[in-house]
Amino acid sequence: YRRLRVALLGAGSVGSQVAALLIKHGDELADRAGAGLELAGIAVRDLDAPRETDLPRELYTTDAETLIMGADIVIELMGGIEPARTYLLQAIGAGADVVTANKALLATHGTEIFEAADQVGAQVYYEAAAAGAIPIIRPLRDSLAGDRVQRIMGIVNGTTNYILDRMDTEGAEFADVLADAQRLGYAEADPTADIEGYDAAQKAAILASLAFHTTVPLDAVHREGITHIDASMIESARKAGFVLKLLAVCERLVGQEGSEESGEAISVRVYPALVPRAHPLASVHGANNAVFVEAEAAGNLMFYGAGAGGVQTASAVLGDVVSAARRHVAGGVGVGESTLANLPVVEIGRV
Ligand code: HSE
Repeated sequence: YRRLRVALLGAGSVGSQVAALLIKHGDELADRAGAGLELAGIAVRDLDAPRETDLPRELYTTDAETLIMGADIVIELMGGIEPARTYLLQAIGAGADVVTANKALLATHGTEIFEAADQVGAQVYYEAAAAGAIPIIRPLRDSLAGDRVQRIMGIVNGTTNYILDRMDTEGAEFADVLADAQRLGYAEADPTADIEGYDAAQKAAILASLAFHTTVPLDAVHREGITHIDASMIESARKAGFVLKLLAVCERLVGQEGSEESGEAISVRVYPALVPRAHPLASVHGANNAVFVEAEAAGNLMFYGAGAGGVQTASAVLGDVVSAARRHVAGGVGVGESTLANLPVVEIGRV
């Protein structure tokens, strides 16, 4: 096999699991990708910080830039805007494909990153940036590209679903369950991002942009969190046959005054919603996520699974790494090096 050098930026709960799985299943992934995947190094801020997994110490480095420059595929799992943005742009500039789970970065600087990648023919993979382990980026971008999505209703934040679910099923107190969510590794480093709906709003902007083939800026997303929800509100909802869920609702609105000539507009909002107990979204428990998609031809689809958690999210990241490696092997990258790069290009279907 041709060997591809993979650089990992970040060794938090997702990063450490990505590295461990890449080492554990290296041979199998190589067969699937058609290329050896060599973990060239893991860039971290502090070499001596405690780690979740036992990886060879020599993999760690504080020199992210050198690691990036020698890589074919760069996986960014640091989170935050900087230095993640600079590193991703460097990686793209150096000709690498990039894999990221950084919803905050994509929701605020997505256009810049995608344009930089387009200019050099690089790819940005981000299946893990929304709804953790659940495949939802590819379905929206690819599988449903021939359809018209009308509406998405998503439970896209595991922490808040975990909190609301335990308040609903056990009558637990908000602060106690938040502490549990942090301990279980669902919550962001600063849980404000979860409980105030910022994390869900970032994911909603990403999903809506894909679903409606447009760019939804983060500041166009209406956002409410769950910090004002108390036991009495949950109880009232239950008595009326509803359950409270933090939903990301992305909708195509028809016949909007002031919208473009098509008369259509997009509305994206995150808020605690009353979901009827009989709706499939009502049975999404714990830190799970679900994305309910209503499409014109396909009808209703629901994507369900683990929306947070290190090893679960690592699954989505590694799927992206395999996709990136396949593209390298197929000649999409480094033209002339791959065995398939000299295939003739033919035009089909043009009259
Ligand atoms: N803090 C996020 C959540 C992690 O709870 O869903 C996954 O993005």
